Amino acid sequence: MTTENVRVALVTGAAGGLGAHIARRLCAQGYRVALTDLDEAGAVQAAADLDPEGHATTGLALDVRDKNAFAAVRDQLVDRWGAVHVLVNNAALTKAESLMDISSESFDRIVSTNLNGAFFGCQVFGAYFAERGYGRIVNIASLAGQNGGSGTGGHYAAAKGGVATLTKVFARELSSHGVTVNAISPGPLDLPVVRDIIPPDKIDAFERAIPVGRLGRPEFIADMAVLLAADHADAVTGACWDANGGLYMR
Ligand SMILES: NC(=O)c1ccc[n+]([C@@H]2O[C@H](COP(=O)([O-])OP(=O)(O)OC[C@H]3O[C@@H](n4cnc5c(N)ncnc54)[C@H](O)[C@@H]3O)[C@@H](O)[C@H]2O)c1
Repeated sequence: MTTENVRVALVTGAAGGLGAHIARRLCAQGYRVALTDLDEAGAVQAAADLDPEGHATTGLALDVRDKNAFAAVRDQLVDRWGAVHVLVNNAALTKAESLMDISSESFDRIVSTNLNGAFFGCQVFGAYFAERGYGRIVNIASLAGQNGGSGTGGHYAAAKGGVATLTKVFARELSSHGVTVNAISPGPLDLPVVRDIIPPDKIDAFERAIPVGRLGRPEFIADMAVLLAADHADAVTGACWDANGGLYMR
């Protein structure tokens, strides 16, 4: 890529986990990448890990529950790199709770991060991309949103089902403006959040219960995001790409 057509991507929830993997893959493809997170210090560190000189990455605070924060970060990135081309709505809050014990506060907390956050991102960047006539939005959904989930809680599953629906709603709205909106729906991934929920003595049995016999690889999910973010991905919109090890086939 030449300097003039260098692409700029923003990843939410990129201080660690899948978001950091996605940022790494985008960076390797030549993107300028803003790694954003509620955990500002974590985002700054993750950005520095990818590019210690800070030319290709920046780490910024962005609480996805705050619509104005998306707009503020958009403006900062336009000032710094001239434009933004890709948004990856990855931030999430995962809390294992038994269904009947979920309080209204906990339900609101999980939904406001996982669903409202994706909505605000799509709204703020959807409008900005549409005005420019180009953009790629990738929403990280979840198998839980398709099959109701298991260990992750009814609030999380409901919010992720909403993310899949939002993806279609925004895809329809933006398709004639050069903007695609797609979702990726992973099953359980080999990431700390899964290993924290499943006790070490149960992980083997858990993996054996997955048809392909193993947790998903976050690097592959990151590659899917890179593919959906590409210029030539223009014919794919409103899609939900599954990567669940065969746990859910449709
Ligand atoms: N790990 C899995 O097995 C799995 C499976 C399916 C889907 N997913 C989805 O993949 C994405 C990443 O998952 P992960 O395993 O890396 O999770 P994670 O919990 O490790 O990372 C989520 C990140 O989001 C950040 N975050 C939380 N609240 C935020 C807020 N209000 N604003 C901004 N950032 C906030 C956290 O600080 C954290 O860095 C999520 O959307 C998750 O639902 C993960």
